[in-house]
Amino acid sequence: MHLDNALTKISWSDFNQLSPVEKTPYLMRDNWPYHALIAQQFNREMLDDLCSLATQIRTIAKTKQGSLFLQTLLDDKRIMLYFAQPSTRTFLSFASACQILGAKTAEVRDTSTSSEIKGESGEDSVRTFSSYFDMIIMRHPTGGFAERIAWVLSNSTRPIPLVNAGSGKDQHPTQALLDIYTLQRSFESLGGIEGKKIGFVGDLARGRTARSLSLLLQHYPHIKLYYIAPHALQMQEDILKALEAVNVPYEIAYNPKPLLPELDAIYMTRIQDEWDTDDNTDPVDNSVFCIEAKDLPLLKKTAIIMHPLPRRNEIDTEIDADPRAMYWPQVRNGMWMRAALILSIFGRAHELLAWE
Ligand code: NCD
Repeated sequence: MHLDNALTKISWSDFNQLSPVEKTPYLMRDNWPYHALIAQQFNREMLDDLCSLATQIRTIAKTKQGSLFLQTLLDDKRIMLYFAQPSTRTFLSFASACQILGAKTAEVRDTSTSSEIKGESGEDSVRTFSSYFDMIIMRHPTGGFAERIAWVLSNSTRPIPLVNAGSGKDQHPTQALLDIYTLQRSFESLGGIEGKKIGFVGDLARGRTARSLSLLLQHYPHIKLYYIAPHALQMQEDILKALEAVNVPYEIAYNPKPLLPELDAIYMTRIQDEWDTDDNTDPVDNSVFCIEAKDLPLLKKTAIIMHPLPRRNEIDTEIDADPRAMYWPQVRNGMWMRAALILSIFGRAHELLAWE
C-alpha cells in the first residue's frame, strides 16, 4: 500500500549516489515536496506559494473563529517531533504550527529516554514512529541521515512524510523558508528580494542555515551574495559551485565593516564550536564578525539584520530596539511558515479557501 511517491521506485544505493539536484524529483509528489529535506527541492513558484499561504494562515488566525477553523484542518493527523539535537525555536515553532492546525503531537527530544539507549538504531526508532504517526519532523546531528530515513519511510509498509528540521552541518531547509518569508515581507515595498545584496557573516562552513538559504536565494534575479567569515569558516565549495552553475554572483570577504553600507540584509550567525574537534581547535577570533550599536549608522536605512538564533555576542543586545533588527519577527515568521509547509505537504492548502 505504497503512497505514490517516487522514492519507492529507486534502490537506496542508486538514490544515495545522486547529486542533491538529481535527488529532488524523488522527494516530490504531485510537483510538491512530500518529504521536505533539502533546499534544492523548492522552486520560485513554491516559495511564493508558501509565503502567501503563511500570510493567509496568519491572517485567519487573528480571530477566535479563524483560529478554531484552522484547528479543524489537520485534526485527523498525528505528528512526531524527533529532535536528536538541541533546539528551542525550531522545536517550539513546529509544535506551535501543529497546534495551530489542530494536529496532535508527541516528541522525543532526548534519545537517552528512548530505546536508543538500549542500542536501537535511529533508523528503527523512526520506523517505530511511523507506526503511530502521520508525519515525522526530525532534527539529527548526522548530515544525510534524513535522506536515508525518508527512503526507509517511503519503502515501509506505512509510508509517511519526513520534514528535515536540521541535518548536521548540511541543511536546514525550513529555516531557509522562514528566512525567505522574512526577506519577502521586509522588502515588500522595496521591489521584493530580487536585486538585493545579502551578506552572510560568521560560521558559514558549519552553519546549515546560511547554506540552505543561499540555495533558495538563487531563485531571485539580480541578487548578489557576500560571504564574510574567517578563512577557516568560509562558505563551502559545494554551495559556491551550485551558485556558479546558475550564475548567481557572490563575493568572499573577511571583514564585514566595509560592506555594511552596501548590504540590504545582513545575516549574522554564531560560531558553531560544538563541531570543533581535537584537529581543528585553533581558536577563531570572531570579534570582527559582530555588529555593535556603534555600527548602526553605517547601515542603509532600509537594511535588515537577521539571525537564525541562538546568538552569542555577534549582535549587541542594544540593537534589538532598532527597527532594522528583524531577528525577533523572524522567529514568529517561522511558526506561520512551518504551518504553511505542513498543511501543504498533507495536500490540504486548498481547504483554506473555505474560509473566504
Ligand atoms: C540554527 C541551527 O540549529 O542550525 N538555529 C536554528 O535552528 N534557529 C543555528 C544555530 O544553532 O546556530
